[in-house]
Amino acid sequence: MTLISKNQQIYDKASKVLVGGVNAPIRAFSLIGITPIYISSAVGPYLTDFDNKNYISFISGWGSIILGDAYPDVINNLKKQLEKGIYYGLSNEYEYLLAELILEAFNFHDMVRYTNSGTEANMLAIRLAKAITGRNKIIKFDGGYHGSIDYLLIESGSMEFGEQIPSSAGVSKRLIKDTVSLPYNDIEILTDFLNKYGNDIAAIIVEPIQTSNMLIKATNEFLIKLRELSTKYSIILIFDEVSTAFRISYGSCTDIKPDITVIGKVIGGGFPIAAILSKKEFMEVMAPIGSMYHSGIFTGHPISTFTGYQVLNIIKSIDNFYKKLEQQTLRFTNIINQLKDHLPTININHVNSMFSLYFSNKKVESIDDIKELDIMTFIDFYKLALKEGVLFAPHPTETNYLNFAHDAKILDLVAEKLMKISNKLNY
Ligand SMILES: Cc1ncc(COP(=O)(O)O)c(C=O)c1O
Repeated sequence: MTLISKNQQIYDKASKVLVGGVNAPIRAFSLIGITPIYISSAVGPYLTDFDNKNYISFISGWGSIILGDAYPDVINNLKKQLEKGIYYGLSNEYEYLLAELILEAFNFHDMVRYTNSGTEANMLAIRLAKAITGRNKIIKFDGGYHGSIDYLLIESGSMEFGEQIPSSAGVSKRLIKDTVSLPYNDIEILTDFLNKYGNDIAAIIVEPIQTSNMLIKATNEFLIKLRELSTKYSIILIFDEVSTAFRISYGSCTDIKPDITVIGKVIGGGFPIAAILSKKEFMEVMAPIGSMYHSGIFTGHPISTFTGYQVLNIIKSIDNFYKKLEQQTLRFTNIINQLKDHLPTININHVNSMFSLYFSNKKVESIDDIKELDIMTFIDFYKLALKEGVLFAPHPTETNYLNFAHDAKILDLVAEKLMKISNKLNY
């Protein structure tokens, strides 16, 4: 009789009632071709599955966990907070306390509005841009990910209105007729496009660092040009910093100032929340002051805002928090570089604690370089790492995140495990 693991049993049941047994495609491990992993608990850098296997995880709640999971002070305070009830359906004091902390870092904005997800926050930012400008058209950039928003789900390179191709089933051509996707970092195309259509554009949405696309960065010149042209044509410039805000430094990942910043992940410490930030004049276009509708049963949820408030305060209380996190990441990148003796094509891109791990003859610096990825070697490496209890994002273009609990001791353990598997692979 073959023994079926608890994880497999859960998957068998889950896949009958949940599509693919999961609630987000990345959790299906489709590229790797293994059964999804169901997690029973998380502490520090570790995840534990239902077969009691421990993994040192670099998923870190897709970046929302920055201190490590179950950080003792956060858990203790949360327990006390939960005794005060879960959700009131009215406002709570942590909504403004967290907003104050956020605005201390984003001091060029005046106000905050919370949402429950990055997707919803980006939708809100774009609706606000349309309400402010009275225009409809939107520019995004190839390789940028802003969540599952119908009218942003278009194929890269649709540089003309009317020629866009949906990148998802269920998105009609009508829905995307006002969106174009321009090449990232191409100042010439951007300038030409805006010289033609600038007065019709409501918003330009851009990730200063593409966190679902191997951490390719916008050049400073590109961001400066975006700022200059947005101002020239009265377009609302939106920076999507859902993944980068409070990840790289206490606040934004760039000095360039957009009209609206969209943030998320770290500000909820693992609970669902995101937010848009902008100046008072713009924010008050929204209800209840203005006429642009936005609402949500759970927006500004007491537990999310409470936890975010705890986490940001803890970050502030630790001297050189981001420097330390970066040093931990450099220790990790050294480990990866040492594997090159056996795995010459292993590569890592990193920005502070965010990294993408991949195999290629060429360092990925632009979207074109992504075509060169060696996916098969990644899959072989991934499976062996997993067997050793090291868990990475299950796709080479997805970002991994170190958290504060990935200390020297943990990283030495990771080094040992990865060295062992690189000896086995030895390409
Ligand atoms: C830059 C960026 N924008 C938007 C989103 C969507 O956020 P959510 O999944 O919370 O809707 C993500 C998610 O990873 C993201 O990285």
